[in-house]
Amino acid sequence: MHAMLIRQTGGPEVFEYAEIDTPEPGPGEVLIKVSYAGVNPADWKNRQGYLEQYRPYVFPYIIGFDAAGTVAGVGAGVSGFAIGDRVFTPTNHGQGGQGSYAQYTLANADRVAHIPAGLDERDAAALPVAALTAWQGLFDRGGLQSGQTAMIHGGSGGLGSFAVQFARWAGARVAATCSSANVDYLRELGVERVIDYRKENIAQAIAEWAPGGLDYLMDAVGVSTLPNGLDLVRTGGTFVSIPTLVDDGDIPGAMGAAAEKGVNRVFSVMDDNDCATTLAKIAGLLAAGDIRLPPVREYPLQDVAEVHRQLQEGHNRGKMVLKVDA
Ligand SMILES: NC(=O)c1ccc[n+]([C@@H]2O[C@H](COP(=O)([O-])OP(=O)(O)OC[C@H]3O[C@@H](n4cnc5c(N)ncnc54)[C@H](OP(=O)(O)O)[C@@H]3O)[C@@H](O)[C@H]2O)c1
Repeated sequence: MHAMLIRQTGGPEVFEYAEIDTPEPGPGEVLIKVSYAGVNPADWKNRQGYLEQYRPYVFPYIIGFDAAGTVAGVGAGVSGFAIGDRVFTPTNHGQGGQGSYAQYTLANADRVAHIPAGLDERDAAALPVAALTAWQGLFDRGGLQSGQTAMIHGGSGGLGSFAVQFARWAGARVAATCSSANVDYLRELGVERVIDYRKENIAQAIAEWAPGGLDYLMDAVGVSTLPNGLDLVRTGGTFVSIPTLVDDGDIPGAMGAAAEKGVNRVFSVMDDNDCATTLAKIAGLLAAGDIRLPPVREYPLQDVAEVHRQLQEGHNRGKMVLKVDA
């Protein structure tokens, strides 16, 4: 198969287009012919070597968590999938498997969901990591309820674009931060109070919009961009940070300060074990028109270095996907 692999960690120039052996599905695994690979900030951090603290890198190494395509084979014990089924998945990359920037990839069956009619593979590839992380941070770990006030710091990125819409779908009142260029975009997504972090004081805007403090805050950017986050949340409220690996600050210190104030403080890392049910639910919301896809920009796999350069700048809107099966 063809793949975009790396033989060492480093800058975007380390990518190399090569032919390698196609993997075989083991027990419980689905082999997927990848049409599109979704791109996440974790990918450039992985390329740079930041994930070494979690597991050793074995080269040649294929990056990429998100994939959408068709089932090309199933391992022993897998039921519910037939050759040719349209599916999407965060793959087994988070568990140390090879990633999705390749013609074929593997995923445990409980991590694979069918793509519903009305959703194409390109768009499905944009979902797994961003949408699952948003869902878990809001609901599974954050316990967001209808009628609560919720602010998403970083509302216009891949994760934020889903988070603001899920929160609104759940009946919360939603505020979100973004730069001037994304103010109209977030209004179109239904955000009640868009805060332009370049022009406005976030604390002042929240004091007016949610007197007494927020019920819920999600930081999807990094602590250096919201150092006073805890001050924005009411006692008894919830403050969820999405760990970035590069701007997470003093986590034990943050937990201690929140405990003193009586705020439920959560650092919510995506968990993709058994995630197929949640993925199917999210795809169903899209297919039903309850939420809409953020803008998805498509690039050929060969342009991955340029895509990583763009993402690394930190001002991405919506999602980027790589067309793998060209
Ligand atoms: N640990 C996990 O399990 C996990 C899972 C998923 C994601 N993450 C992390 O979560 C972060 C967000 O992911 P993503 O996919 O949404 O990234 P993304 O698509 O690159 O979006 C980044 C967003 O951050 C916004 N931003 C940059 N500086 C800002 C500031 N000072 N104030 C407010 N917003 C600012 C940008 O908006 P403007 O252009 O308007 O500035 C952009 O929309 C990344 O660090 C990612 O690695 C972690």
